[in-house]
Amino acid sequence: MKFGHFDDKNREYVITNPQTPWPWINYLGNEDFFSLISNTAGGYSFYKDAKFRRLTRYRYNNVPMDSGGRYFYIKDEETTWSPGWKPCKTTLDKYECRHGMNYTSIEGVKNGVSAKVLFFVPLKTWAEVQKLTLKNNSSEVKKLKIFSFTEWCLWNAAADMENFQRNFSTGEVEIEGSVIYHKTEYKERRDHYAYYSVNVPIKGFDTDRETFFGLYNGFDEPQVVAEGNPTNTVAHGWSPIASHCIEVKLQPGESKDFVFVLGYVENAEDEKWESKGIINKTKAKETIARFDTAEKVVAAFDDLKKYWDNLLSIYNVNSGDDKLDRMVNIWNQYQCMITFCFSRSASYFESGIGRGMGFRDSNQDLIGFVHQIPERARERIIDIASTQFQDGGCYHQYQPLTKKGNNDIGGGFNDDPMWLILGTISYLKESGDFTVLDEMVPFDNDVTVARTLFDHLTVSFDHVVNNLGPHGLPLIGRADWNDCLNLNCFSNDPNESFQTTENKSEGTKAESLMIAGLFVIYGRDYIELCKKMGKSDEANRAQKEVDSMIVAVKQYGWDGEWFIRAYDYYGRKIGSEENEEGKIFIESNGWCTMAGIGKEEGLCEKALDSVKERMDTEFGIVLNNPAFTKYYIEYGEISSYPAGYKENAGIFCHNNPWIMIGETEIGRGDQAWEYYRKICPSYLEDISELHKTEPYVYAQMVAGKDSFKPGEAKNSWLTGTASWNFYAISQFILGIQPDYDGLKINPCIPTKWDGFEITRKFRGATYQIKVENPNHVSKGVAKVTIDGNLYKSNVLPLFKEGTTHSIVVELG
Ligand code: BGC
Ligand code: NOJ
Repeated sequence: MKFGHFDDKNREYVITNPQTPWPWINYLGNEDFFSLISNTAGGYSFYKDAKFRRLTRYRYNNVPMDSGGRYFYIKDEETTWSPGWKPCKTTLDKYECRHGMNYTSIEGVKNGVSAKVLFFVPLKTWAEVQKLTLKNNSSEVKKLKIFSFTEWCLWNAAADMENFQRNFSTGEVEIEGSVIYHKTEYKERRDHYAYYSVNVPIKGFDTDRETFFGLYNGFDEPQVVAEGNPTNTVAHGWSPIASHCIEVKLQPGESKDFVFVLGYVENAEDEKWESKGIINKTKAKETIARFDTAEKVVAAFDDLKKYWDNLLSIYNVNSGDDKLDRMVNIWNQYQCMITFCFSRSASYFESGIGRGMGFRDSNQDLIGFVHQIPERARERIIDIASTQFQDGGCYHQYQPLTKKGNNDIGGGFNDDPMWLILGTISYLKESGDFTVLDEMVPFDNDVTVARTLFDHLTVSFDHVVNNLGPHGLPLIGRADWNDCLNLNCFSNDPNESFQTTENKSEGTKAESLMIAGLFVIYGRDYIELCKKMGKSDEANRAQKEVDSMIVAVKQYGWDGEWFIRAYDYYGRKIGSEENEEGKIFIESNGWCTMAGIGKEEGLCEKALDSVKERMDTEFGIVLNNPAFTKYYIEYGEISSYPAGYKENAGIFCHNNPWIMIGETEIGRGDQAWEYYRKICPSYLEDISELHKTEPYVYAQMVAGKDSFKPGEAKNSWLTGTASWNFYAISQFILGIQPDYDGLKINPCIPTKWDGFEITRKFRGATYQIKVENPNHVSKGVAKVTIDGNLYKSNVLPLFKEGTTHSIVVELG
């Protein structure tokens, strides 16, 4: 069953039934000011950091689902309704929500009146703009009352949910004209306030929540709206809100626009006040003035559209398959921008207060984003590297507002350092900008111990070398990529965190085959980089380490039919035929096959065959098999999940592309494609009632074959699945790979494909590439022509900036 459809021309998903199986959301803003918005206008806004600078309040896991947001109540005689159906839930004559690239428009029609709201954050603006268009399609004059609504959060979203003995006394607002200002804590330690304005005179306002709703009503029937009269309340403590009331008269056929601005301002210490107790509103007024007419809003919206036209023109495929094209050209790239901005901080599954930016997460997010805006990737790499420790270890997370490592979680995740090599190499290959390697980058944000970014890569490499276990394989530390394989945490206390508890790390023998694979791949990248930089001694040293790792993997990491996953604290195998449960895992088989370890001896092929036989399902590849059915204290969180969910044999979509890429390494394009299609959201649109999450973005996890409901997805949006799947399809299946000195063409496609076309902008030039597959093979480039001339390599050269070239590639 579907709840809408794709509109590819406009790059939108159009939801036509508001009762989606889960709120289907979108993100507004991609720089400093952000909002989450659901298809019924639920959600919230924040400045830079969803924990520390939350502007509007949102209650997660609420009843009913997704209650609270930016709402409009339209009172038309006795009927009150909302354009997004919620919160009033009055049956609408028409409902349509269009989620587009950083904007959402929601239209409701009731009794001859159409109300359409366009929500977006204009470029370089610290505000969400809401353009409400009301149109009278009836033959009578309509006299309407419009009530806007938003609820302020008292800034720190965690404290806002906890510290009520203080919070109920601190709230402060100011009202001037049609603007409601939220200034809680501004008089002491804050240099910022928020505001909510409308560009017309208002009949009145409310800022006291209890008065607006009445103590015993919900969002669906505020008392003030029911009575039809704003009461001009000025909040003192309790829970400040912002609601405007506007009276509108519409002749038959007439339409009117109203512009609301929900914004954020920071003032310097000596510019905070206009007069005693009265905030300085200059900056707010400047922003409001930039959007005080519908025309100005439309112009800003056009700018946003052009911005996305440009971003999405960099990688564009025409394969003849709409479902593939819309994912590659639009939605997957868009999701990569979102994961770049938010890491794992704020979604409808991530509360915005738990995690900030992840060291491993943000580095991986770059591989799907770097081609869009390399300069922002550069800045991010430096921010991330600044949270590394001198021994190469890393803070696992940092806060976007402060850019400082997060002490609550600390470090000790031994895969983390390797991802910095991936992030940096991806940037170098896309941009060709080697100056980044000379940037002086602090350790643990301490500038007195800054070293070059290249040195950070060296200590990353050495962190693995310096932390090897008894088999010469990498010690796992708290965990590798799989946060739930906690091999040094023997926890029997439900109040302990699996992520941070390490009861037994002294004398541990716990080693990770996944980090071994990572080390071989990014170690080779490090070696290649050293050679390019003329550091041949360092390259030789590193080569020896990588070679011994390969030997160790072959000797101690091969189980006979697949790669084992790890050794536990006691040095016993995990992910081996000899285990009762968890005999085989996806991660080590993905990484060791991507690394091509034992390819010549047929190990990769064997391992991938085992993956297919034991872990492939209708909805994707499960993480491990058989699922754990009891708690293994020596394995940790993985065995805490019910079978088939999350890291315990769920289909963890993030790691399916590792297998796809592994398949392309051995040339099996049909298999790689089948895996791609199984988890790709646009192919799942028809089963939305089962899949549940948005058909336009990847979810982190789909319930596996051992679960109660196989095929049901959770945790959409903020997942490494976005970047890894874009990486797999764009670079390994379609096979367009940025390289230091050119663009490498190396597709691995289904044999039945006749070919495809791609436009790729790279280092300032445009490559129009036509791949032909006359012999119906998967892999292998037989012939390349550039502008009609034969070219003897599949690495296309760099071209002069601003030029366009037509390339024909024949597979065979
Ligand atoms: C989840 C992991 C996540 C970890 C860290 C665990 O509960 O299963 O997916 O990475 O928490 O937040
Ligand atoms: C989600 C986390 O964000 C990521 O860092 C981790 O690798 C996966 N879960 C797997 O546990």
